[in-house]
Amino acid sequence: MARILSGIQPSGTFHIGNYFAMMKPMIEFQREHELFCFLANYHAMTTIQKASELESYTIEAAIDFLALGLDPEKSHFWVQSDVPEVTELTWILSCHTSLGLLERSHSFKDKVARGIVPNSGLYIYPILMAADILIFKSDIVPVGKDQKQHLEITRDIATRFNNTFGEIFTVPDPLIEDEIAVIPGTDGQKMSKSYGNTIGMFEDEKTLKKKVMRIVTDSTPVEDPKDPEKCSIFALYRLFADEEQTQSMKEKYLKGGTGYGEVKKELAELMWRRFEPFRKKRLELEKDRGEVANILKKGAEKSRATAVKTLDEVKRAVGLIYG
Ligand code: ADP
Ligand code: TRP
Repeated sequence: MARILSGIQPSGTFHIGNYFAMMKPMIEFQREHELFCFLANYHAMTTIQKASELESYTIEAAIDFLALGLDPEKSHFWVQSDVPEVTELTWILSCHTSLGLLERSHSFKDKVARGIVPNSGLYIYPILMAADILIFKSDIVPVGKDQKQHLEITRDIATRFNNTFGEIFTVPDPLIEDEIAVIPGTDGQKMSKSYGNTIGMFEDEKTLKKKVMRIVTDSTPVEDPKDPEKCSIFALYRLFADEEQTQSMKEKYLKGGTGYGEVKKELAELMWRRFEPFRKKRLELEKDRGEVANILKKGAEKSRATAVKTLDEVKRAVGLIYG
């Protein structure tokens, strides 16, 4: 039984990219592993600065996870800022992390390139992420491909720290599923909360159809053969369809005679059905936000026990415990 940890920023409404890369695998792991799953609201603060937004995204994110099947009894499920030991560890690690390591961060450079005026928090984002992972001595961290470098930075920080102060941290392994490495959005680019190209799990039926119909395609005529590997609709279709449906759709593409509109209709139908079983649960949770907050607070208490222990070991090792 491995200890599996991952977090996700409540920085917008979750979408199917988040679902397949992070939420679904995490929910499945709770059956056979020790699962640590949290909402990274301190990370979200680096870009979401309106209090009402941060608050509502956080609770909505929790509602999504619980509706989709995360079981707070079987797992550890909490909000990052409710375990303050993580930010204490962040400071300690930041004093042992070279600037050069942060300067190489693609994620920082991408955000700046997109016009975000960077605050210092955005710069030390990877150290906070390392603290999240290392304080719980996680073995495996399931993430999307875009987080690969953050995991490398975490491994680097852990290894150097252990070399200097003794084997305190577990050096974690990332878990990146190749097939779902980059899920395209309605514009064909990576689906992302910040690009306005997302499809959510809990859209109403009309919006869902509208969004699927909007997915960009090339202009190959209906009768011509098409390349499924170059098509965003097919990339999404295969996530929702079973083996047989995927194979038969692939053949239709290659043969020609099937229009993109027809595939979109099938895709919208499959998407709607996939999330059907979770919709009722979500509506119930939505009505009892107080109870959702309680679940999160209990989750934080359960997780803190581990965090307090690791922080104590670290403080001893670096000379912060005296007398
Ligand atoms: P977003 O880009 O929507 O803000 P995040 O950066 O918060 O998403 O990512 C949350 C998790 O979901 C990460 O593990 C990330 O790798 C994964 N993820 C986000 N978008 C996609 C996508 N389009 N394809 C695959 N994985 C994704
Ligand atoms: N940076 C991650 C993302 O944007 C979120 C995150 C924060 C995280 N802390 C983490 C992921 C620890 C895995 C482990 O998706």
